[in-house]
Amino acid sequence: MVFGGAGFIGSHLTERLIQEGAAVTVYDNLKTGRTANLAKSGSIPLSFIEADVCERNKVEETVPGHEVIFHFCDDSDIRSAAEHPDTFVEQNIMGLFYVLESMRRNGIRLILFPAAPPCSGAGPSAASELHGPMTPLNIYGGAKLAAEGLISAWAHTYDFRAIVFASSASSAAHGSRGGSRFREKTAKGSDATGDTRRRHSKPLLCAGG
Ligand SMILES: NC(=O)c1ccc[n+]([C@@H]2O[C@H](COP(=O)([O-])OP(=O)(O)OC[C@H]3O[C@@H](n4cnc5c(N)ncnc54)[C@H](O)[C@@H]3O)[C@@H](O)[C@H]2O)c1
Repeated sequence: MVFGGAGFIGSHLTERLIQEGAAVTVYDNLKTGRTANLAKSGSIPLSFIEADVCERNKVEETVPGHEVIFHFCDDSDIRSAAEHPDTFVEQNIMGLFYVLESMRRNGIRLILFPAAPPCSGAGPSAASELHGPMTPLNIYGGAKLAAEGLISAWAHTYDFRAIVFASSASSAAHGSRGGSRFREKTAKGSDATGDTRRRHSKPLLCAGG
């Protein structure tokens, strides 16, 4: 199930998932996304739900029966976030909470979520993309960090698997070079990079690149 599947990244992902043989449900309110973006995916096996992630009842009604959740329906408009922080928090944080709770209640245990490292701010010392400082410079970055926190907490508390990937460029959606780094939060994973700078209560597994 792809929240925000009619958007830029979500529609490319949906196309790829269908090419790989998956049955996909796209959940999208078409605020910035377009059904035309899904044209190449065809109508079967794609289901399209036009709804807002803030409609908790709709989320709870739609999530059951899916195996994997891709959460790509964040509002990325930094200026709008500053002007309307209430609606921004409702969508980017509460919307994710509704999704996580629906997953928990229905035994769905894998979520993938895009981080936004450029909004994480500058710290006192240089840090790699994977270990960036957590001092958001704007509400978009703050909401991303909060969302990662929620996902990590749900993953550790309810034995979810969660992959938060940091896309350095939109090319990641196309599978081209310059792509992404992946952080996989797992209750029992180990640090595949051997990096000793991590200070999480449970280790993160890094894979891909
Ligand atoms: N595009 C990039 O280069 C890039 C880089 C890093 C991270 N990201 C992240 O990837 C995600 C998707 O980005 P994008 O560029 O594809 O954005 P986008 O605006 O093209 O896609 C977002 C989709 O979510 C839908 N949506 C918006 N509000 C919704 C709501 N309340 N309920 C349901 N659906 C809603 C929109 O209609 C749209 O289809 C965002 O979380 C963004 O922060 C994008």
